[in-house]
Amino acid sequence: MGFNIAIDGPAGAGKSTIARKVAGELSFLYVDTGAMYRAIGLGLLRKGIDREDEKAVSASLDDIQVSITHESGEQRVWLNGEDVTRPIRSEEVGNMTSRISSYKAVREKLLALQRKLAAAHDVLMDGRDIGTCILPRADLKIFLTADAGVRAKRRYLELTDRGISCNIEEIERDIRQRDLRDMTRSIAPLKKAEDAVEVDTSHMTIQEVADTIIRMAKEKMMDASSQDTGR
Ligand code: DC
Repeated sequence: MGFNIAIDGPAGAGKSTIARKVAGELSFLYVDTGAMYRAIGLGLLRKGIDREDEKAVSASLDDIQVSITHESGEQRVWLNGEDVTRPIRSEEVGNMTSRISSYKAVREKLLALQRKLAAAHDVLMDGRDIGTCILPRADLKIFLTADAGVRAKRRYLELTDRGISCNIEEIERDIRQRDLRDMTRSIAPLKKAEDAVEVDTSHMTIQEVADTIIRMAKEKMMDASSQDTGR
């Protein structure tokens, strides 16, 4: 079993930027589980499946194969053999994914893959239900949050930076809707695990958040190794 760090939290709290940085500095494998859900969302969009039709979504999953690879620490996501690392980032895919990730068959499809990765490597895995459901025995659990307004502004800057024109009010509305859907769904809702440490990133820099998590991870790793040698 590898050393496992779980980072959960709502969209735009800075999970992926921070997770990538922390994983890089600790030489852990970074697993972005949102990207796996997004690949399924893209596959369903391409097949023209109605996102409200759970039966049709579940029936289409056998034709949708998702896998991930890592190249110099960067995760690449594959959909039926095609590298979809970039196209899964659109708002359209995000909205589709937020809906279909509430379906049992979709979650079951990814659960085994995620647990297998965590068993084989030292991983830092980010998502919504990693600490509560996928890796309930993770060595360190972090719940990252930030105000919805701050998250909307971050997303707006990220998109305009990439030359994509967008409207900040619309983004904030989408974020609030997505939070509500992610938190109120019956299966694996977005929720802080009891033993997770909550970090509010609204007024912290990326480096400050990363340093906080790295310090906690190193303490846990020292504890784990002193328990091993004390045995
Ligand atoms: O983190 P993200 O925005 O890339 O995630 C896309 C969607 O996938 C989001 O609506 C929540 C969902 N998701 C999930 O249900 N469980 C996860 N472990 C990760 C993401």
